[in-house]
Amino acid sequence: MIAKKIRATAIVKSDYDRNATNYDKVRFGTLGGQYVNKREQEFVASIIKGSRVLELGTATGRFATSLTQRGAKYTGIDLSQNMLRTTSEHTNHSISLVQMDASHLGFRNYFDHVLCIRTFHFLQKPTEALQGMFGSLKPGGECLVTFETDNPLRRLLLFFGIGASEQYYYRTSEVEELFVKAGFRIVRRGPVMRVPVTFYRRCPSSLLWILRRLEKIWPWPMHDYVLGEK
Ligand SMILES: C[S@@+](CC[C@H](N)C(=O)[O-])C[C@H]1O[C@@H](n2cnc3c(N)ncnc32)[C@H](O)[C@@H]1O
Repeated sequence: MIAKKIRATAIVKSDYDRNATNYDKVRFGTLGGQYVNKREQEFVASIIKGSRVLELGTATGRFATSLTQRGAKYTGIDLSQNMLRTTSEHTNHSISLVQMDASHLGFRNYFDHVLCIRTFHFLQKPTEALQGMFGSLKPGGECLVTFETDNPLRRLLLFFGIGASEQYYYRTSEVEELFVKAGFRIVRRGPVMRVPVTFYRRCPSSLLWILRRLEKIWPWPMHDYVLGEK
């Protein structure tokens, strides 16, 4: 695991509050960013079907929108009030939004799915967070967590300051261990996206096809997932 200048929760909150207005433009403003969103939406849709869903870290609501369009009863939490407000503005369906720290969840035996996309690596107390996710689920419910990975290429990129962010980078085996410690049975694990997201976001549109081809053969997956069952 790599811990890169981990921010206090209050700093994470104020950073996301400040960045809520330009969040979508920075992440999904280029063709490469839109491609990543499309792939991640397809990935989530392949696992989360309808039913009661809890998302940790809503940001501006890309999954709140797509999940409710497919019939989910959606509850989202985020530290950032500005992110929650934007999620509410982006969603036409009725949803529940709560300002809450993902490491201190207060739900019990209610949800069919818990979803934590690109947020787990910011959490200061991952064990407590996973225990809270476990407690939030009904028996048989599933928990999907994605995270940015620790691998030799990541270490090289971080050494040169490329794509650096203040967060943890995990090996998949480390996240699996945390799942098991929280009580989950591992259903499966694997890559979500292999090529670094920062390459997609910065790639000129005319060269995007190269990254899309590389995606199939890239040896160091940069964004992985673990799916666990209660
Ligand atoms: C990189 S965004 C990802 C959001 C979304 N899941 C997505 O993939 O578009 C991370 C979000 O998690 C929120 N967040 C970070 N730490 C959190 C915590 N401890 N509890 C709740 N939300 C948190 C941030 O405010 C931000 O909105």
